[in-house]
Amino acid sequence: MIPPSTHVLGQGKSIGKDISQIIYNKCTPCHQKGEAGPMLLESWKQIKGQSKLIKYVVDKGIMPPWKPDTAYSRLKNERLLSESERKAIADWIVGNGSEDFAPASTSLGKPKTTKNELTISSPYFDVPSLKKDTLMYVKVLYHLEKDIYAKSLMTLPENPQKVHHINSTFLKYPTNNSGAFFVFDVNESGKSGRDTFYKSDLICADNWVPGALMKTLPADIGYKLPSDGVLVFECHYPPSPKPFRDRIKITISDIVDTVYRLVQHSTIGSYGQSGDPYPPLIIPPDSTPYFMCTSIAKDDLTLLNFNPHMHYLGKYFEAFIVHTNGDTTHLVRIKDWDFFWQEYYVPLHPIKIEKGAKTVVLCRFDNTAANPRNPHLPPQFVKQGLKSSDEMINLNLDVVDYRNGDELMNY
Ligand code: HEC
Repeated sequence: MIPPSTHVLGQGKSIGKDISQIIYNKCTPCHQKGEAGPMLLESWKQIKGQSKLIKYVVDKGIMPPWKPDTAYSRLKNERLLSESERKAIADWIVGNGSEDFAPASTSLGKPKTTKNELTISSPYFDVPSLKKDTLMYVKVLYHLEKDIYAKSLMTLPENPQKVHHINSTFLKYPTNNSGAFFVFDVNESGKSGRDTFYKSDLICADNWVPGALMKTLPADIGYKLPSDGVLVFECHYPPSPKPFRDRIKITISDIVDTVYRLVQHSTIGSYGQSGDPYPPLIIPPDSTPYFMCTSIAKDDLTLLNFNPHMHYLGKYFEAFIVHTNGDTTHLVRIKDWDFFWQEYYVPLHPIKIEKGAKTVVLCRFDNTAANPRNPHLPPQFVKQGLKSSDEMINLNLDVVDYRNGDELMNY
């Protein structure tokens, strides 16, 4: 027998209060002033005013945005509604029940500020009016009094509604002038230049997507940022009719005197330290091919977080580890790849990648005219490259040397 529909959370008492709590916890972090969500959900009046749209996006699973497949792996930084929350929204009859809900806390979702933090900002730079999605690299040469150790990083754009996502990278200074990476930078003088860097010069990386949380690390682990370095912000802008000024900053928090284990950043796949795509990444027009990248660990490592990366033709991304005893650990599966929601994923607990274990990445691309994100119509030959109209396959990993018990660490 199918039970009659009930207000699971409300129990007929205070629907407004329950709904407002769900929205404040799960939606307001992005739908508030200064964040990326297109409309404000900061007050009960605003929530009620958008009730139809809220019910629609929740029913269709469009919001809150979360791309990884939870049937494949569970992740610590999931943004999901529970079944009862989903049902409460579906059963919500606007205007029903008392409306004595708690007011929204405006600090929701904002990074905590600590005393021990410093911020490195890019200079202001001009983003011209853009007819299509555009990638801009902004390079900042920074100088600190000494090397610093820190446990948290947070990249933040000044205009979160005007940028899709940002990848930030700390590099050694001075960079080599030959290598795989081309950086078109907007430097302090406002001029555009061209520079290059190697992945091996890379110290650590962070990124920002709407709703991104501060990247933090377990107990004795941290980042080391050299006193002199180069910070590169890779900014993906959507088309915009009007030019505007922008500035990106990265906040380095929880600065400590020293850390016992340093995070090492590693990249599997295109231009990475290992696992070149197989077959070589060439995608003929009107094809939907699969590619694979594999990397075998040379030492015992502990995996802290990871970030899948492809461009517009990406459709499917899966990453897993095959251990030396034949067991498999699933990292992430995204069945409907979305260029706009690339982020760092945090496993429930750190994962041991023992020497000899194989990390496997499987991807599929769609280079047909049926892919609405295809930058070329009619479809063209697409090969590996840094422009967003080229393609890449990356699994970026934050790892440290393994120590006994790492799998049980909480953070
Ligand atoms: C991680 C940030 C984030 C969270 C959390 C989030 N949203 Fe959104 N929301 C966005 C962004 C960004 C957009 C703009 C469309 C896009 O980029 O997908 C959006 C779009 C929407 C839209 C569509 C607006 C339109 O006119 O098309 C609605 C409605 C919405 N969100 C409601 C919600 C609700 C309800 C929740 C909570 C259950 C929620 N959002 C949680 C970031 C978020």
